[in-house]
Amino acid sequence: MDAVRRLGNTSIEVYPIGLGAMPLSLNGRPDKEQAHSVIEAFIQSGGNYIDTANVYCADASEIGHNERLITNILSKLNPEKEIIIATKGGVKRDRDNWIADGTPKFLRQSCEQSLNDLKTDSIFLYQLHAPDPDVPLTDSVGEILKLKDEGKIQHIGLSNVDVEQIELALSITAILSVQNRCNLFNKKSFANGVVKFCKNNEIAFIAHSPVGGHFEHAQHTDNVSLKQVADKYQTTTYQIMIAWLLRKSSAIFPILGATKVSSINDSLKAIKIDLQKEDMQLLKRI
Ligand SMILES: NC(=O)c1ccc[n+]([C@@H]2O[C@H](COP(=O)([O-])OP(=O)(O)OC[C@H]3O[C@@H](n4cnc5c(N)ncnc54)[C@H](OP(=O)(O)O)[C@@H]3O)[C@@H](O)[C@H]2O)c1
Repeated sequence: MDAVRRLGNTSIEVYPIGLGAMPLSLNGRPDKEQAHSVIEAFIQSGGNYIDTANVYCADASEIGHNERLITNILSKLNPEKEIIIATKGGVKRDRDNWIADGTPKFLRQSCEQSLNDLKTDSIFLYQLHAPDPDVPLTDSVGEILKLKDEGKIQHIGLSNVDVEQIELALSITAILSVQNRCNLFNKKSFANGVVKFCKNNEIAFIAHSPVGGHFEHAQHTDNVSLKQVADKYQTTTYQIMIAWLLRKSSAIFPILGATKVSSINDSLKAIKIDLQKEDMQLLKRI
């Protein structure tokens, strides 16, 4: 497996697995010291890309929690290499509900707040968190394009989209990345052609929930075929799930969530696993 992946059509090289920082800010999150250790372990292993969103927090009273947490930890760690931060806007939160709001006014307000919380003048990648069924996609993406023209963001990404929506967005601007749920137990983005479309159009496909999701991951570890492959490589089912994604397409860039250093240290070893064809076939049937 290559030691780095190129991000979309840019020349930017990233460690093949990114850190999805969401679990560091949701209910049940670890304390600040543990969050610090998780990010530190990720960077020490070679990681250089962190995914966040303004709505990664416990409830609406602390919007921006995850962005502020990352900014604070990185300022203390002061890493030698550049750490790429990608964030998202276009979703509203209360305690339990995540509701799309793709109105230009809300997106602009969210982006301004993210700039503030990330303590930056320009966000590397700003992703529309999810299309809003009540707002034309071109209106949402159009506003993000205006933010890009103003220099407030450098690249535009989409999340939770299908091919038709990507094509619509591409009709008005360049798209660096598409972030969808994608793992061995959720192959929708393969079935509906999104991964292939991204590969063909040099768009990075960012696989969120790569080991099954923050709340559901543990239930997948007992799968017989998955365990069989993990036993063969004398490794964990987590590493196999990530190795499978990395092998499926060079466009795929998994972002892993973790609240424990042990999870990071284990899962990042996936880049060393080169799954054989027969094992890919076995996993395909899951
Ligand atoms: N765009 C969207 O709509 C969207 C939606 C969901 C997520 N995301 C992004 O994608 C990222 C990843 O998704 P996710 O966090 O939901 O799911 P995930 O990465 O599939 O699963 C994360 C969980 O897996 C556990 N884990 C990982 N490696 C492990 C290992 N080797 N051994 C044991 N446990 C391990 C971690 O447990 P511990 O907590 O015990 O370490 C962690 O909580 C998020 O953080 C977020 O940035 C985006």
